[in-house]
Amino acid sequence: MRIAMIGGGYVGLVSAACFAEFGVEVAVVEADPGRLASLHAGRMPIYEPGLDALVAGNVAAGRLSFTDDLTSALAGAEAVFIAVGTPSRRGDGHADLTYVYAAAEQVARALTHPAVIVTKSTVPVGTGRRIAAILRDVRPDLPCAVASNPEFLREGSAIADFMHPDRVVIGVEDEGAREVLRLLYRPLYLIETPIVFTNLETAELTKYAANSFLAMKVAFINEIADLAEKVGADVHDIARGIGLDGRIGRKFLHPGPGFGGSCFPKDTLALVRIAQDAGAPSRLIETVVAVNEARKAGMAGRVIAACGGSVRGKTIAVLGLTFKPETDDMRDSPAIPIVSRLIGDGARVQVYDPQGMDQARPMLPETVVYCQNALAAAEGAAALVVVTEWNEFRALDPARLAETMRGRAVIDLRNIFDPATMREAGFAYYGIGRPAGSQPGG
Ligand code: UDX
Repeated sequence: MRIAMIGGGYVGLVSAACFAEFGVEVAVVEADPGRLASLHAGRMPIYEPGLDALVAGNVAAGRLSFTDDLTSALAGAEAVFIAVGTPSRRGDGHADLTYVYAAAEQVARALTHPAVIVTKSTVPVGTGRRIAAILRDVRPDLPCAVASNPEFLREGSAIADFMHPDRVVIGVEDEGAREVLRLLYRPLYLIETPIVFTNLETAELTKYAANSFLAMKVAFINEIADLAEKVGADVHDIARGIGLDGRIGRKFLHPGPGFGGSCFPKDTLALVRIAQDAGAPSRLIETVVAVNEARKAGMAGRVIAACGGSVRGKTIAVLGLTFKPETDDMRDSPAIPIVSRLIGDGARVQVYDPQGMDQARPMLPETVVYCQNALAAAEGAAALVVVTEWNEFRALDPARLAETMRGRAVIDLRNIFDPATMREAGFAYYGIGRPAGSQPGG
């Protein structure tokens, strides 16, 4: 089978490489010349573990190719996936569908045979119907079906998520199109992956509902963490105590500085707008959005409190900048408001992140000092803040840290260190959601 993937961004590239690994011939259409050149050179435009090898293997096997020529990519394609970006529209939080509709129109004009047009980008309810209308308008001569096939890939484990998903959701109403997609996903069908076939609107809304639910889970455990700190409880034991209930589940109950990334912030906001427009406001998700924003904004306050109420003139080490480990993605990372506030309050901020420093530079104040490793960032610091739970930080030797730093405050926003070990090493250690007394200011 041959398919075309419109967009060689995160979702498009991972999906294309994984479909190729399934044995499908995939042509990726990438309009950005810089990105296309780097793909041709075998350089991945994003950091995703295992992606470079997967792409290289499938390019070498002749199943995966990159081009800016839509017509050649569409030749013989039974399905055309639209995986272009849908950024939050400035001002109102709606997903910006300009690129999606433009891609649909270009595909409609260039097609010489009927194909299934599939949205992989996360798109608001009703987008699939509008794409169907565009196809009918532009090419009344060509009967193309439309399908919605949302992705549920986590950055950092996207390949495993694609190859072994909990489920695949496909919104499609045309029998022939359904067969094409069933065939495409046959390797997953063989490993008994549940495939939910439904209508377009349901598939579109399922994606927003999934991400909003997970975001709500994170916001919930963060709120319980705050409460645990006040009453002398341990949030990790609570997470285990509730997570072992199969109805709740253990995942996504890790407290932290608030969720970030390319999906949760954007998708929760989009769901809020969709729900308002539909006359069925989602008060729960509205609150999740507000609570998470406030949390990210408030995290610097913990550092300031741990430094005795002021960071002016002090050196603060920040370990981890990306919104989570195993990615170089800085989008909506809690590090942005934390570092900005500390600098604004007069601190000298020394940062280190294993992958995200290039992405971070344009998003953080110019005076941030970028360091070669965690210990270099800790050099002379009054306080050390863990923002992202990269594994290499877990292995830091407390004694070395203590020698390197000038002060003794450690604010561990991901609870990667053992509180007892850190206190034994002489640190004033502050975690998240652990018994009161260990928190700055109280
Ligand atoms: C998410 C969804 O998981 C994925 O299914 C979807 O398609 C895209 O969005 P991703 O954004 O890559 O994936 O990251 P994820 O691992 O879900 O984490 C999102 C944010 O929540 C991160 O900032 C993370 O640090 C935070 N988080 C997650 C927590 O604070 N605690 C948790 O227990 C889990």
